[in-house]
Amino acid sequence: MVTQGGNISNIPLFVVFEGADGVGKSTQIKHVEKELTRLGYKTVVSREPGGTPLGETIRAIVKENFDLYPWSEFYLIQGARIEHIGKVIEPALRKGYIVLVDRFTPSSLVYQGVLRDIGVDEVLGAIEHSQPNLEPDLVLVLDAPEPIGAFSFSSSDSFERDGLSSWREIRTTYIELSQRFGWTVIEADRDESHVTKDLITAIINHLKTKMLLEQ
Ligand code: TYD
Repeated sequence: MVTQGGNISNIPLFVVFEGADGVGKSTQIKHVEKELTRLGYKTVVSREPGGTPLGETIRAIVKENFDLYPWSEFYLIQGARIEHIGKVIEPALRKGYIVLVDRFTPSSLVYQGVLRDIGVDEVLGAIEHSQPNLEPDLVLVLDAPEPIGAFSFSSSDSFERDGLSSWREIRTTYIELSQRFGWTVIEADRDESHVTKDLITAIINHLKTKMLLEQ
């Protein structure tokens, strides 16, 4: 456990969970939140697109409209993200919370940059020009060779409705971009509790490093 003067550190940490659909991301975020709370950390959980009332409206728009231009889709999601950073993530970090977010900018690089063919560097450039902009401290990519368990592709999600071939492209893209951007890949097709343990270890190790660097 990370402690500072006998107390759990109040060092803020911004952690993003990523991966293709059906790798247990939402379940693992719940387990991680529960475990961090049990250890005494203050946590906030959120998601993208979403996290604010506007963000949730944009989420519904993006999920329902399959014929958007790639850049329209990107800017809708990026607009929601700007609100999310300014109104939810940064205020929580200022209060010393560990912020756990289900998807963030890495999803835009994968889905809009590669799947929608805008280009990773083009999307990256647009993200970097936005204000407020924020880099995650840690990106945890859950990876599995196939969707796990009872997952089935939803016809109401524009990426899922393309089925397994798009799923495989998403998975491969996450692995390739993880090497470029230093994201941490965690094997997700294992016993749930082992996956949670590895996620917690990665988070605590990152907190320890951040604490040392800030001393
Ligand atoms: P997801 O988070 O997987 O939730 P659900 O469990 O409801 O399917 O769905 C969000 C969708 O939004 C997913 O298909 C990926 C997409 N998305 C992007 O295309 N770009 C982004 O930047 C983000 C954050 C999400």
